[in-house]
Amino acid sequence: MLGRSRLPFVLLAVAVTCAVAQDVPPWTEDCRKSTYPPSGPTYRGPVPWYTINLDLPPYKRWHELMADKAPALKVIVNSVKNMVNAFVPSGKIIQIVDQKLPGLLGNFPGPFEEEMKGIAAVTDIPLGEIISFNIFYELFSMCTSIITEDKQGHLLHGRNMDFGIFLGWNINNHSWVITEELKPLTVNLDFRRNNKTVFKSSSFAGYVGMLTGFKPGLFSLTLNERFSTNGGYIGVLEWLLGKKDAMWIGFIIRSVLENSTSYEEAKNILTKTKILAPAYFILGGNKSGEGCVITRDRKQALDVYELNPKQGRWYVVQTNYDRWKNPFFLDDRRTPTKMCLNRTTQKNISFATIYDVLSTKPVLNKLTVYTALMDVTKGQFETYLRDCPDPCIAW
Ligand SMILES: *[C@@H]1O[C@H](CO)[C@@H](O)[C@H](O)[C@H]1NC(C)=O
Ligand SMILES: *[C@@H]1O[C@H](CO)[C@@H](O)[C@H](O)[C@H]1NC(C)=O
Ligand SMILES: *[C@@H]1O[C@H](CO)[C@@H](O)[C@H](O)[C@H]1NC(C)=O
Ligand SMILES: *[C@@H]1O[C@H](CO)[C@@H](O)[C@H](O)[C@H]1NC(C)=O
Ligand SMILES: *[C@@H]1O[C@H](CO)[C@@H](O)[C@H](O)[C@H]1NC(C)=O
Ligand SMILES: *[C@@H]1O[C@H](CO)[C@@H](O)[C@H](O)[C@H]1NC(C)=O
Repeated sequence: MLGRSRLPFVLLAVAVTCAVAQDVPPWTEDCRKSTYPPSGPTYRGPVPWYTINLDLPPYKRWHELMADKAPALKVIVNSVKNMVNAFVPSGKIIQIVDQKLPGLLGNFPGPFEEEMKGIAAVTDIPLGEIISFNIFYELFSMCTSIITEDKQGHLLHGRNMDFGIFLGWNINNHSWVITEELKPLTVNLDFRRNNKTVFKSSSFAGYVGMLTGFKPGLFSLTLNERFSTNGGYIGVLEWLLGKKDAMWIGFIIRSVLENSTSYEEAKNILTKTKILAPAYFILGGNKSGEGCVITRDRKQALDVYELNPKQGRWYVVQTNYDRWKNPFFLDDRRTPTKMCLNRTTQKNISFATIYDVLSTKPVLNKLTVYTALMDVTKGQFETYLRDCPDPCIAW
């Protein structure tokens, strides 16, 4: 773990290195080929499947999964506590989280409150810390999402989940502490009602919202974080002050995956519902033209950018920057993603070639926890844990 004094220095060193080098080798590389099926040093391993039974009361749904994953969840919760204590050494913040946060935040809607209480009970982690773990995803995810349409009008949706920036750098083996600790918590979930799949998702055990998932035959959905000055912190503050008319982002995605019954309905909800933090929703459907990136501020959609295969727009790509602006100069994953898709061509698009694109540095980087591939029409859902051995950029 990093002490207070070293962290800024390391970040500065990393930033300087990246500033001079992000667009040259070894930080970038030629578009990868034939990386699928996954193997070799950028593949950490498979992701286990668990079933979540929606017919159980919310309090009990997560018990089986969390009985397996409690130790891994404790590791990450402790790391975050150590980081917080390193910045504010009195231990006061954790005390407030444990004792006051549940009361301050008040009730969460729908099943979320009871589900988090159930997780706290079975893992023996204070509810305030489980709630913090659930809020934390609204704030630190950097990602790349892609939807493609091939010549036959068949859609595919891929994403890299990049998570854990600024939360501690391990100088021994050049990795992000939280990113590494999330890998053992990564699970594929099959949410079932009446013993039938309602939706599937890749997620982190202990988190009751969703960031990546699909409803077979209907739609696929991923979240990418959007940074904005009118950001999530203000939304959280408003929530604390009692203004509870907005939805948490991970929770709205879970609700849409669980309860929406068409691409159009999902799009409508994701475009119009007030949310707590700005976001990009990347939504794919089950037929030609059904794919879009919805750029959101907290109140409304600023932009809905759609596939348009007739005009040659056979893919949409989203990282963490508005498409009408240049990406931050230290963090351009958009250009390499598009360049590699262009080189692949619409004719040769498949899980294999999308995995190739998502395996090309810096689209693959030290923050990448997993790569997910979704085919709504065929009902295929695959997730792979990733590694990015040196030389590899930190984000
Ligand atoms: C299509 O993609 C596969 C997988 O990467 C690759 O092996 C193959 O050479 C590509 N075909 C063409 C025509 O580019
Ligand atoms: C780096 O070290 C940490 C702590 O020992 C370990 O959890 C993690 O898996 C390692 N990461 C890599 C990429 O070797
Ligand atoms: C659920 O369905 C699976 C097959 O899809 C079957 O093996 C299992 O027995 C069913 N469980 C229940 C409780 O009906
Ligand atoms: C989905 O709808 C059911 C029935 O209205 C409701 O009980 C449940 O809380 C909803 N799920 C979510 C995640 O909002
Ligand atoms: C596509 O979704 C619509 C609902 O939006 C559904 O009626 C239709 O059956 C789906 N098509 C396929 C091929 O699953
Ligand atoms: C990809 O191809 C499109 C369409 O030909 C072009 O407008 C765009 O500049 C290309 N992007 C990159 C990064 O090569």
